[in-house]
Amino acid sequence: MSPSTSVGTSEFLAACAGERTKKIPVWFMRQAGRSLPGYRELRKKYDLLTLTQTPELAAKISLEPIERLGVDAAILFADIMLLPIAMGIPVRIVENVGPVVDQPVRTLEDLKRLRPFSREKVSFLEETIRILRGELKVPLIGFSGAPFTLASYLIEGQPSRTWTLTKRCMYESPELWAQLMGTLSDGVIGYLETQIDAGAQAVQIFDSWVGCLSPADYRAYVLPYMQKIFSALKKKNVPRIHFGTNTAGFLKDFANVDCEVIGVDWRISLGDAKRLVGDKALQGNLDSAIMLAEPSVVQARVDDMFREIDPHEGYIFNLGHGVLPETDDQRLRQLVEYVHGK
Ligand code: CP3
Repeated sequence: MSPSTSVGTSEFLAACAGERTKKIPVWFMRQAGRSLPGYRELRKKYDLLTLTQTPELAAKISLEPIERLGVDAAILFADIMLLPIAMGIPVRIVENVGPVVDQPVRTLEDLKRLRPFSREKVSFLEETIRILRGELKVPLIGFSGAPFTLASYLIEGQPSRTWTLTKRCMYESPELWAQLMGTLSDGVIGYLETQIDAGAQAVQIFDSWVGCLSPADYRAYVLPYMQKIFSALKKKNVPRIHFGTNTAGFLKDFANVDCEVIGVDWRISLGDAKRLVGDKALQGNLDSAIMLAEPSVVQARVDDMFREIDPHEGYIFNLGHGVLPETDDQRLRQLVEYVHGK
């Protein structure tokens, strides 16, 4: 039997449930990655996708920041592009570029290549999760990309700064957009249910690029799919974290999605975010780039953040986006200690 972690023993799970916490829980998006020496060593021998698909190695990478940084939650070592891969769309992760889809999905004909999700295609993740639950004393977070962010990679074929083709599809091909978003949404539900059934104790959905939309377009073209996904996951009874960047303009709409925690980036103050998300728990939002500065600068920013909200109630400390690869991991460790001392 895998050991269980209850709300009672985990400050992270307590904060997700909106409860008061003695110690402020901390974890970092992208904590298991290039800022850590063990990961960089493994990457000399294996590419990213191989690491994510090899349970013993993936588990080792998820565990590294727990020991080294002292964080209060682990994140499954995987990537948002594993879902489209499992659904039949080949993806390459190109060094210093990101995910590349050589045959993008831009027509109804292309869409036929996107197959329904089936759990057998990600049995390696189930195995990684089982290994991790046997080792971890802190909760394990599973995750998925949100349909908009996944769709943007499938349509653009590569990372974009303007998301022009994605928006064009949204505006010009409503039928294609609805089918693509619908199929991806069902995939996200199945993918996260698989992770929860295997032992993930919380899930986070990353809508990393949705902030390129106007609030009205978010409401029309994305929000209904997010509501469907989060409602479907409710019955699994684990905390659901909804994260996006550049979402200050439609954080109120985020608050209308049924979830326990909302993650925000650094472009909004925690006080404003709290007023918009209401009684949901809040996660965030130190600018990742601040970690390149001296500890005194970092600590002053943390103090500023904690003047905006009560960090001991329904709050999880995190960065506003992922750890930058050039971050000194010892500074991350000092930051964890500093927040824990508050
Ligand atoms: O600790 C963790 O969070 C590690 C697990 C993780 C990875 N990707 C591993 C990874 C997580 C949670 C992700 C999420 C992810 N992947 C997102 C959403 C989060 C965000 O940052 O907005 C997105 C948009 C992706 C797609 C993706 N995969 C990108 C943009 C990149 C980076 C490209 C680059 O080289 O900068 C990847 C590759 C990737 N995924 C790496 C890691 C550790 C780097 C691979 C390497 O070692 O070269």
